Amino acid sequence: MNTNQNEGLLTQLTLPSPPRRSFLGALLVVGGGAVSALLTVPLVRFALHPIFVKTTETSWSDIGALSDLDPSAGPVRKAIQVEQRDGWRKTTSEQSVYVTRDASGQLRVLSSVCPHLGCTVPWLEEKKEFICPCHGGIFSSDGTYRGGPAPRGMDWLETKVDAGHLYVRYQYFRQLVPTREVMG
Ligand code: FES
Repeated sequence: MNTNQNEGLLTQLTLPSPPRRSFLGALLVVGGGAVSALLTVPLVRFALHPIFVKTTETSWSDIGALSDLDPSAGPVRKAIQVEQRDGWRKTTSEQSVYVTRDASGQLRVLSSVCPHLGCTVPWLEEKKEFICPCHGGIFSSDGTYRGGPAPRGMDWLETKVDAGHLYVRYQYFRQLVPTREVMG
């Protein structure tokens, strides 16, 4: 074996083969990327949560004990505390609703927001009608449309009874449209 052959053999023995080194490097890059991705997913989901949840979530509001609610003489106005979650923001506001009865005598809760342009609609006991003070929209005691510029009747709200109390899920509805469309 001559000198050149010895040097070539020495080089082969001391230097790691390039394909093996690049394979280990690629493995490290892929492994590191996978771990980073796994750690990042929960953070991204947390950050984007407010974007993908329903814009506004409303909790159930207690209207009061059923035994204290008697709309037989006409709609009863009740103030309720409404808790809303919008993304991470939680707000509480006071809203007014009417407890009334529908044509079959079942309890019905109405939003007091006029479906025309959003004024608060009062119940006028002497006229036995809801009459909107803004543009004269008229509704019967169960919220049915009777006259004026409103495109539909007053909006009913989802209710439930729990432990003798009446609860309502307060919602906002699109104005100026003939059908009841929930906004949030
Ligand atoms: S806002 Fe009620 S009739 Fe216009």
